[in-house]
Amino acid sequence: MLEDARIISNEILKGDYRKIEFSAPSITPSVQSGQFVHVQIAQLKDRILRRPFSVCDVSDDGVLTVVYKIVGEGTAKLADLQPNTVCNLMGPLGVPFSIPTGDQVPVLVAGGYGSAATYILAKRSTNPGILLLGARSEDDLILIDEFEKIGFEVRVATENGARGIKGLVTQLLQSVLDEPGVENKRFFGCGPHGMLMAMGQMLLDNNVDGELSLDHLMCCGVGACFACVVKVKADNSDGWRYARTCNEGPVFKASDVYYG
Ligand SMILES: Cc1cc2nc3c(=O)[nH]c(=O)nc-3n(C[C@H](O)[C@H](O)[C@H](O)COP(=O)(O)OP(=O)(O)OC[C@H]3O[C@@H](n4cnc5c(N)ncnc54)[C@H](O)[C@@H]3O)c2cc1C
Ligand code: FES
Repeated sequence: MLEDARIISNEILKGDYRKIEFSAPSITPSVQSGQFVHVQIAQLKDRILRRPFSVCDVSDDGVLTVVYKIVGEGTAKLADLQPNTVCNLMGPLGVPFSIPTGDQVPVLVAGGYGSAATYILAKRSTNPGILLLGARSEDDLILIDEFEKIGFEVRVATENGARGIKGLVTQLLQSVLDEPGVENKRFFGCGPHGMLMAMGQMLLDNNVDGELSLDHLMCCGVGACFACVVKVKADNSDGWRYARTCNEGPVFKASDVYYG
């Protein structure tokens, strides 16, 4: 679906992270956790490509929230847009995370904007769970208060030791895997590629599956250009094939991903 969405607010969340709210009542009712919108950034005249962003939150009255980090021209331009500017949104797109139900406990492993991309999943899970948040430094730790407000326990790892344990988020993951009750836990990941590869491999080494959001560079966003492929297990065979992360993902089972 395409919708001309008016910007309601576009504010600094922390450092280079921004929180933008769009009025998108046609898109919000069908958003599932882990899906993304493909945003045509108003006034980015020299670049025709849309930019993909995970939906962080939606409200019943049609507000769609995205949390984004300024990393290049498109996101810098997005950060300059004022309330009431209209951007065309395409979405919701992509295969979503599945929602933990019953007494299952979600364990979310996130780096960078990964906490934003898993926030709807956290809100919609029957039980609160654990957010394992990894970052180079304090600057990339976002939405901790928001997760705590909905009952999640947040465990942090920073590479420089500024907050939480000094080290990588995978160390936090290994301790969760070593705790009793792992069979009741459901594992989800969103963050830098290296983190997701390490996470997926660690889950499989511990005979546990999970779901990983492989946010690859994208062009069309709808399966037409093959710019976004990753190697995954082929159906009904021992071989591999290339899957489009925009419409066959971004969420894949950890056990289907190629770790090379
Ligand atoms: C499904 C999906 C969901 C995403 N959700 C979010 C989100 O919720 N919040 C957020 O901040 N970002 C998200 N991203 C990444 C976001 O799309 C890019 O940061 C953005 O497109 C960069 O645009 P730009 O013009 O500013 O940067 P460019 O000038 O295009 O690139 C600047 C730098 O960013 C890198 N980059 C661009 N796209 C990606 C990407 N997909 N993954 C890793 N590095 C990239 C480039 O390689 C380059 O080094 C998501 C990406 C995907 C595929
Ligand atoms: S971005 Fe074009 S096929 Fe995925």
